[in-house]
Amino acid sequence: MEVNPILITGAGGQLGRELQRHAAAFPDFDFVFADHKTLDTTVESWVHKMLDEIKPSAVIHCAAYTNVERAEDDPENAILTNAAAAGFVADACHKNGALMIHVSTDYVFDGKGSMPYTEQDQVNPLSVYGESKLEGERLVDGKCERSIIIRTSWLYSASGHNFFRTMLRLAKEKGELRVVSDQIASPTYAGDFALDILKLLHKILIRTEHVEYGTYQYTQLGEASWFDFAREIIHQSGMDVPVYPVKTGGFQTRAMRPAYSKMNCDKWINNTNIPLKTWQDGLAACFDEYKTLSTEH
Ligand SMILES: NC(=O)c1ccc[n+]([C@@H]2O[C@H](COP(=O)([O-])OP(=O)(O)OC[C@H]3O[C@@H](n4cnc5c(N)ncnc54)[C@H](OP(=O)(O)O)[C@@H]3O)[C@@H](O)[C@H]2O)c1
Repeated sequence: MEVNPILITGAGGQLGRELQRHAAAFPDFDFVFADHKTLDTTVESWVHKMLDEIKPSAVIHCAAYTNVERAEDDPENAILTNAAAAGFVADACHKNGALMIHVSTDYVFDGKGSMPYTEQDQVNPLSVYGESKLEGERLVDGKCERSIIIRTSWLYSASGHNFFRTMLRLAKEKGELRVVSDQIASPTYAGDFALDILKLLHKILIRTEHVEYGTYQYTQLGEASWFDFAREIIHQSGMDVPVYPVKTGGFQTRAMRPAYSKMNCDKWINNTNIPLKTWQDGLAACFDEYKTLSTEH
């Protein structure tokens, strides 16, 4: 049987952990999960050494500097991790003939429009994080022909630190929630995203189906403000906690975020034939996982 090693960088993060959870459903792949300690992607020689050794069929590059606030005061490290290091991985993939799956963000857009962004739309990041991710996209695109860049938005999951978990915790602690209602995008359950990335790899590498390389957008269907999202989390949790809308200006933040960064995902749907759930169904799937984890502990 042909061996298909798949390397996952940043495997200890939210998306990396979800990829690990779904790995068993893909026995055609030999996964190598590299967390930050196992592979620091900002060390170019380390990246090359690991790819030269593993000779992966594909790399799913999840390693990233994701603290949007901190990036404003720490631009060198954000750019090193999200741009330069993505370029190191792209170089090493190109050298080893590996397909690179690179994960990017809706924060490459300024959010000043009112129609969902397509892959071709003008980018104009408002934050250091968005700028660094955009530069990462450019480097990956320029260095690795066999690359698929997937922009996603508002990832969350049943474990770790994320909006879903924070809302449940604050609802219990405070008995009410105040949430920003003037930033709109599409919440996306990282568990479904991870599964669909693996399905995509299976199509390309195992079923040898043709899927065009380049930039894609993947989010769950529909749009929501953080307030709408919080309200649905509380609704699906069965808690009786009021949720109040507030304006972005009511919170002091260092980084500017796009007001409307919903992305059009037609290219993903048409080119991959992997359907997308609504964000509400994604949330229900996250709750299923959350309940499983709660009964295990
Ligand atoms: N979370 C979202 O809402 C969201 C939205 C759109 C796009 N994305 C993109 O989706 C991808 C996955 O995000 P996520 O939610 O899984 O983020 P995450 O939970 O912060 O995971 C990122 C992982 O990368 C690791 N990392 C940081 N620097 C590294 C380095 N130099 N070498 C190796 N690993 C390093 C981090 O380790 P440490 O914790 O040790 O630093 C962390 O485990 C990222 O590309 C992100 O930009 C995320």
